[in-house]
Amino acid sequence: MEINPNDVSQKENHLLLDSIVCPRPIFFVSTLNKQNIVNLAPYSMSTIASTSPAMVCFSVALRPNGEEKDTLANIRETGEFVVNTVTAEILDDVLIAAGDYNPGISELEYVNLSTLPSVTIAPPRVKESPVHLECKLHQIVELGAHSLIIGRIQLYHIADEVYSGDDVDTAKLNIIGRMRKSSFVRTSDVFSNENLWKLYHGS
Ligand SMILES: Cc1cc2nc3c(=O)[nH]c(=O)nc-3n(C[C@H](O)[C@H](O)[C@H](O)COP(=O)(O)O)c2cc1C
Repeated sequence: MEINPNDVSQKENHLLLDSIVCPRPIFFVSTLNKQNIVNLAPYSMSTIASTSPAMVCFSVALRPNGEEKDTLANIRETGEFVVNTVTAEILDDVLIAAGDYNPGISELEYVNLSTLPSVTIAPPRVKESPVHLECKLHQIVELGAHSLIIGRIQLYHIADEVYSGDDVDTAKLNIIGRMRKSSFVRTSDVFSNENLWKLYHGS
């Protein structure tokens, strides 16, 4: 099968890419609007943008009616956001937060999650996530129906029990990844590859 992306609709491209580029991490993004209402929403078109400087990025689609999602509107207004990691324990609440709510109502009203203040930016962190990235907007790259948000990390918050000394011990996190449509993946079948270890460490 060969498919030219220019010959198919946005929906078909979405279905293809959603099933080809997976598993993907889920960024649970917290922002504030001008009225200081906390917005929470998951974004899985997301990854590292750079390690020097430390940057992450995620892609926000327009709503079907052509309006901007609250996360994008808030980041345009305030230039700040927090990326909270998604573990199996909070997945149900994260999916509730993905609902289409009026911008005047915080998703916090609907989920069983609480917040902690951030240190360098105004939007709060999600307490139940073990890792938070406090980010300031670096750039928004407009890509047709999507806006790619690139943020520079101001501060990493890593729960002491998952910090290994130089990274995050992912075996201690019940991280969830996004697969196609409504499917997800657990990270309970992790393996190490000796050849890669030798490539990096010599023997
Ligand atoms: C697991 C998951 C991942 C998602 N990833 C994205 C994404 O990468 N880009 C996007 O535009 N919407 C994504 N969505 C949909 C948004 O979360 C949804 O449109 C949400 O209502 C946006 O909220 P907001 O208007 O508060 O920003 C995702 C939904 C789920 C459940």
